[in-house]
Amino acid sequence: MMGIYSDLLFLLALTPYAICQKVSGQLSNPTLQGPEKVKLNETETISCIASSEKLSILYSLYRGKTLVQVQNISTSEPANFSVSFHSQTDGGTYKCKVESDDAMQTKYSNSINIIVLAPVLGVSITSVPDPPVLKVHDKLTLNCLVKQGSGVTYQWYFNKQELLSNSSIKINQSSLVIDHVDLKDTGDYQCKANNQFNMTTFSIASNSTEVIVKVPASNPDILADVNFVNKDGMYLTIRCLSHEGTLPIVYTLYKNTSFVSDYYAESHREGQFIVLESYTDKLGTFKCKATNGFEPKYSNGLDVDLSVKLTSNPDPPIQGYQVTLNCSITYQTTGFYTWYFVHSENNSTESTKQNQFTHIASHPGRYYCSINGQTSNWIQVLGQDSSFQTVTVAVSVAVTMLLILVLGLICYCISQKAHRCNID
Ligand SMILES: *[C@@H]1O[C@H](CO)[C@@H](O)[C@H](O)[C@H]1NC(C)=O
Ligand SMILES: *[C@@H]1O[C@H](CO)[C@@H](O)[C@H](O)[C@H]1NC(C)=O
Ligand SMILES: *[C@@H]1O[C@H](CO)[C@@H](O)[C@H](O)[C@H]1NC(C)=O
Ligand SMILES: *[C@@H]1O[C@H](CO)[C@@H](O)[C@H](O)[C@H]1NC(C)=O
Ligand SMILES: *[C@@H]1O[C@H](CO)[C@@H](O)[C@H](O)[C@H]1NC(C)=O
Ligand SMILES: *[C@@H]1O[C@H](CO)[C@@H](O)[C@H](O)[C@H]1NC(C)=O
Ligand SMILES: *[C@@H]1O[C@H](CO)[C@@H](O)[C@H](O)[C@H]1NC(C)=O
Ligand SMILES: *[C@@H]1O[C@H](CO)[C@@H](O)[C@H](O)[C@H]1NC(C)=O
Ligand SMILES: *[C@@H]1O[C@H](CO)[C@@H](O)[C@H](O)[C@H]1NC(C)=O
Ligand SMILES: *[C@@H]1O[C@H](CO)[C@@H](O)[C@H](O)[C@H]1NC(C)=O
Ligand SMILES: *[C@@H]1O[C@H](CO)[C@@H](O)[C@H](O)[C@H]1NC(C)=O
Repeated sequence: MMGIYSDLLFLLALTPYAICQKVSGQLSNPTLQGPEKVKLNETETISCIASSEKLSILYSLYRGKTLVQVQNISTSEPANFSVSFHSQTDGGTYKCKVESDDAMQTKYSNSINIIVLAPVLGVSITSVPDPPVLKVHDKLTLNCLVKQGSGVTYQWYFNKQELLSNSSIKINQSSLVIDHVDLKDTGDYQCKANNQFNMTTFSIASNSTEVIVKVPASNPDILADVNFVNKDGMYLTIRCLSHEGTLPIVYTLYKNTSFVSDYYAESHREGQFIVLESYTDKLGTFKCKATNGFEPKYSNGLDVDLSVKLTSNPDPPIQGYQVTLNCSITYQTTGFYTWYFVHSENNSTESTKQNQFTHIASHPGRYYCSINGQTSNWIQVLGQDSSFQTVTVAVSVAVTMLLILVLGLICYCISQKAHRCNID
């Protein structure tokens, strides 16, 4: 060793120019050679050669930017890289780099593209949106993915029937697009990926993906039913109903913006809530929310107010004539209406299921009604005699005035006559 080194040093000292020429001996761009296509699990040789007079060259093999292997070759032989293709990601663009051992020169080879042939494997569907639950007219995109497979062709199936591209369904190999879905597009979608490998046809179907197309729930209507009232409490039925929207719909009831409960409407469109409240005339504001997978929709606020209003036709009622009384409330109820007739000599009550009562106003007095513990305003029936009295008073006053006027006139005439007589 020492001998070689001293010899080298000797040469260096004697012929610096010649040595320089040799050390800086130009490294050419290397040439990379390898297969274009390989089968999965095969091991192939990729060789790289750079012509140089150098004693030692460092060869590096890259796939893309990844260093795969390094070889230090001290002859003019090509570097032979033995590469195993265990997956399709082992395919791609290969390149080799050569460096002189003093790292003074670096050159790159041509690049070669290696395709890994593999049977198709691992077929699945992805969707946009995910999960594939859509409103009518929304856009659906399905993609068929394969974990592995070269030169794959695809087929699409809807409820087991093969789908072909048409103006509404666009199929392009691994992608299926429906720009505006309709309710009839609800169903199972499946793709099949096929390829040839080692003279054999491989064909693998994905699991099926269930696409759901729905009509969004419309703003629900809200109604209150008062079912039972006593001093301790009251039962209400609050009904919520979205006239449109694919079932199931989940209704949520709020009272004064606080959550009360949920109702899952699956076989019937209407949601019903039984609410127990302590007795009060103003129960607050009830509101329903309807959701079936999209933006929630709200009802109007319903003020449940037990107050009662009595109206009559004619207004005011006339004694001796028929009068129709209306007892109005802002909610629905199964309760009974009680009608009160208060007269000076005979008080009576009536009970009806309807909110209307027709009656002959035979006596002067007051009418009112009540339901669910709340009493209405009252309406008065004026007595006919009292109006007669008014007329009588008015007539007597008028007659008296007339009498005074006539008497006055007579007196005046008499006095005028007397005066005239005196002159004469
Ligand atoms: C490749 O090798 C893996 C295991 O190393 C094996 O499961 C697979 O079946 C092989 N594929 C082919 C196409 O030979
Ligand atoms: C390559 O081999 C030469 C001689 O065999 C040695 O001097 C050099 O250090 C080696 N280079 C690397 C990077 O291994
Ligand atoms: C690389 O392979 C070629 C051809 O098979 C052979 O001639 C050469 O010697 C090999 N290179 C090395 C460094 O073994
Ligand atoms: C497209 O094909 C689907 C499924 O076969 C079918 O339901 C739809 O009506 C077709 N659309 C048109 C515009 O032909
Ligand atoms: C199918 O998709 C490919 C690649 O995405 C595209 O180049 C081609 O134009 C598409 N063909 C049709 C008919 O849309
Ligand atoms: C290719 O097919 C041959 C014969 O059909 C079989 O012997 C061989 O194992 C197959 N190779 C692979 C990688 O599947
Ligand atoms: C396909 O479905 C089966 C059973 O439902 C499940 O075990 C498997 O993971 C699914 N495969 C994929 C790719 O989702
Ligand atoms: C509901 O809100 C109204 C007005 O904000 C209020 O008067 C009422 O007391 C509230 N009711 C309950 C039960 O909280
Ligand atoms: C009384 O109620 C009925 C319906 O319940 C309504 O048709 C009618 O107009 C009402 N009459 C009055 C005077 O309020
Ligand atoms: C009818 O009821 C009123 C008050 O409700 C009362 O003042 C009146 O005396 C009652 N009349 C009779 C005859 O009971
Ligand atoms: C009191 O009124 C009711 C109903 O209007 C009537 O049936 C009853 O005979 C009346 N009684 C008297 C004493 O006038």
